[in-house]
Amino acid sequence: MAAARLIDGKAVAARLRADVAAAATALKAAHGVVPGLAAVLVGDDPASQVYVKSKTKATDDAGLKGFTHRLPAATSEPELLRLVAQLNADNAVDGILVQLPLPRQIDAQRVIEAINPAKDVDGFHPENVGRLWSGGRALVPCTPYGCLLLARESLGNNLAGAEAVVVGRSNIVGKPMAALLLGEHCTVTVTHSRTRELPAVARRADLLVAAIGRPEFVRGDWIKPGATVIDVGINRIADGDGKSRLVGDVAFAEAQRVAGAITPVPGGVGPMTIACLLRNTVVAACRRRGLPEPTL
Ligand code: GUN
Repeated sequence: MAAARLIDGKAVAARLRADVAAAATALKAAHGVVPGLAAVLVGDDPASQVYVKSKTKATDDAGLKGFTHRLPAATSEPELLRLVAQLNADNAVDGILVQLPLPRQIDAQRVIEAINPAKDVDGFHPENVGRLWSGGRALVPCTPYGCLLLARESLGNNLAGAEAVVVGRSNIVGKPMAALLLGEHCTVTVTHSRTRELPAVARRADLLVAAIGRPEFVRGDWIKPGATVIDVGINRIADGDGKSRLVGDVAFAEAQRVAGAITPVPGGVGPMTIACLLRNTVVAACRRRGLPEPTL
């Protein structure tokens, strides 16, 4: 079988970012509104630092207004809740993102529930979670929305009726991914580390989404020939010689020999997350003001 086609997340994300930038320009011209995104980083987790830095740059590049709040690792929960309340009240802020994970002294769920759902561009607030599952107008979590756009890129109109298997059940990716795929009329199975006969379940998938956070967990012989594989994992592993490299949750070389289409790591899902965050910020800015939303 020929090697799987690569799904180019960088290219799809660049298109979405250009569309977001055009929508932001139009919003400013018509209504004098510049959507604002506040990112809150508590502590000095290196991966989170990198992520927040690239978010800040992407925000500026798209013509949005970025606000970054860096708080020390020892910040208390009441201090963080006070900042969230201040951002909720700030009319220049349309989107609030509190980077996870948070230090142990802070209850992340309490912080998520304190964010105004209309500004919850992560889509983690229970009001948005409920709307997503009940088919309402939710703000949708960025990584699974990016995965959906990549799945559409690969499968086009063939999502309805497709067997979709999601590996991983996190609140950030696995669960909202399942809701989005149900919305596309897929037959959805959510699996996890305790699923019995996981390789056999995965082999049923026309669309396999791997989001379990374990390097190269999904092997080539778990994949149905011709399937579309979306790899959410970003894992740094030692590569001998004291060097390291990034791998996904899928054993890429094996999978590429079997799949019909697959996302690379890096350059697949990663770039989509930030593009979708910018998209959510523009959508939130329009909804909050009762303005017509661009289709993004
Ligand atoms: N940490 C890892 N992914 C995410 C995300 O999508 N949003 C936030 N807030 N934190 C994260």
